Amino acid sequence: MSKRRRPSKLQDNLVYGLVWLACFAPLAWLAWKGFQGDLGANPIEKLIRQLGVWGLRLLLVGLAITPLARILNWPRLVRFRRTVGLFAFSYILLHLFSYVGVDLFFDLGQLWKDILKRPFITLGMAAFVLLIPLAVTSTNGWILRLGRATWQRLHWLVYLIVPLGVAHYYLLVKADHRPPLVYAAVFTVLMAWRVWDRVKKSSP
Ligand code: HEM
Repeated sequence: MSKRRRPSKLQDNLVYGLVWLACFAPLAWLAWKGFQGDLGANPIEKLIRQLGVWGLRLLLVGLAITPLARILNWPRLVRFRRTVGLFAFSYILLHLFSYVGVDLFFDLGQLWKDILKRPFITLGMAAFVLLIPLAVTSTNGWILRLGRATWQRLHWLVYLIVPLGVAHYYLLVKADHRPPLVYAAVFTVLMAWRVWDRVKKSSP
């Protein structure tokens, strides 16, 4: 039987660097376009929307890592889930900040009114609040404190966060509902793979 060659530290660092660059690139691109004054007729809306959509994409990339690791027979890929998840959280935090700061001028009373009156903001905020415990407990110290099983169970929250994010997107688009439906379809496929995987593992 041929033994799988252990990847070198250098290879690991290289992949880590590439993952980091790929996650950071959209933010760098947005900042660059912003400085160039090239974000279109409504730069604030463009900024908020781009940060939101990249947050959602990275949440889905995070969910795709386990199936990919299994399909490609590359278990070490799972190590990058945390980095991708933290980038997703950062994009969504910036999305929230640009809405509250740039759009509402930090009027927290108005934010509260929006949460109560605009269903898409209610859903977005719910998703954001659920993301906080995942971001806070992302350190090795927290994994030890909670125990890996509890920590993993806590991460099932992402199965709620993504549909909330997609519903938030669906409710805010006025005409073309195809983009949020595409994200919903990707999420469904990723969940279906998990169900199939569980069934396969539990069948004798
Ligand atoms: C997990 C959390 C969230 C995700 C995944 C998310 C994702 C998105 C996406 C995909 C868009 C549309 C982008 C596009 O049209 O291309 C969007 C727009 C928007 N989101 Fe979020 N969002 C989240 C949380 C929030 C929160 C907490 C707020 C504010 C309290 C918020 C406020 C907005 C606003 C104001 C828009 C733009 C609406 C418009 O231009 O009409 N989002 N978001």
